[in-house]
Amino acid sequence: MKFFIDTANLEQIKEAQELGVLDGVTTNPSLMAKEGISGKENIHNHYKAICEIVDGDVSAEVISTDFDGMIAEAEELVKLHPQIVIKVPMIKDGIKAIKYLNGKNIRTNCTLVFSAGQALLAAKAGATYVSPFIGRLDDISTDGVELIRQIVDIYNYYGYETQVLAASIRHTMHIIQCLEAGADVATCPLNAILGLLKHPLTDSGLEKFLADYNKLNA
Ligand code: E4P
Repeated sequence: MKFFIDTANLEQIKEAQELGVLDGVTTNPSLMAKEGISGKENIHNHYKAICEIVDGDVSAEVISTDFDGMIAEAEELVKLHPQIVIKVPMIKDGIKAIKYLNGKNIRTNCTLVFSAGQALLAAKAGATYVSPFIGRLDDISTDGVELIRQIVDIYNYYGYETQVLAASIRHTMHIIQCLEAGADVATCPLNAILGLLKHPLTDSGLEKFLADYNKLNA
C-alpha cells in the first residue's frame, strides 16, 4: 500500500518525506487556501516546491468545471513537473476530460467520489487513481471504508487498472481499515501517519531496556 500525505504544508511534507515512507502528495484547492497560496503563479510554484521535496506522484487539482477549461489547466499543470497527476472532479465534463487526458498519456486522479457507480465511470474513462472520500461519508452516517471495499472488489473482478486512493482519511484507524479493505493508496494527514508509530508497550518496553542498560553502564 502506498502512503500519500494529504496537505499543501511544506513543513509537514518534509517531515513525512524524512520518515522515509512517503510515496506521494495530494492537494486540493481548500488545502492550498489553508496555506495562504493564491494566484496561478504562486500556486504553480507551490506545486513545483512540493515536487522537489517528494519522489512520488503529486496531485494538482483543476478548478475549471468545463471540459475545455480542465484540459487547458491540465496541459499547463503537467508541464510543471513530471510527478504531477491531474486531479479532476467527478462530474460529466470531468469524466470526458479524464478520457481525453488518458489518451494523451497524462495521469489523472478522479476526486470527490462517493459511490461505486462513480468509481466505475472513473475506471472506464482510464483514471490513474480514483479518490473515494471516506471521512466525508462517515460524517453523514455512511460507511466510507465499506465503499473502498466495494470499489476494490469491483476493480479486481473486472480487471480495471485504476488505483483506489482512499481519501478524506481522518485518523490512524482509517488507514488500517483501508489497508484491510485493499486500497492501493491511502492519502493521510501527517498526524494519522504518525499515529501508526504509537503503542504504549513500545514506550514502556524501550524505557525498561534503557533503564536495564543504564544500571550496568551508567
Ligand atoms: C484528497 O485527495 C482529498 O481532497 C482530501 O482527502 C479531502 O479530505 P477532507 O474530507 O478531510 O477535506
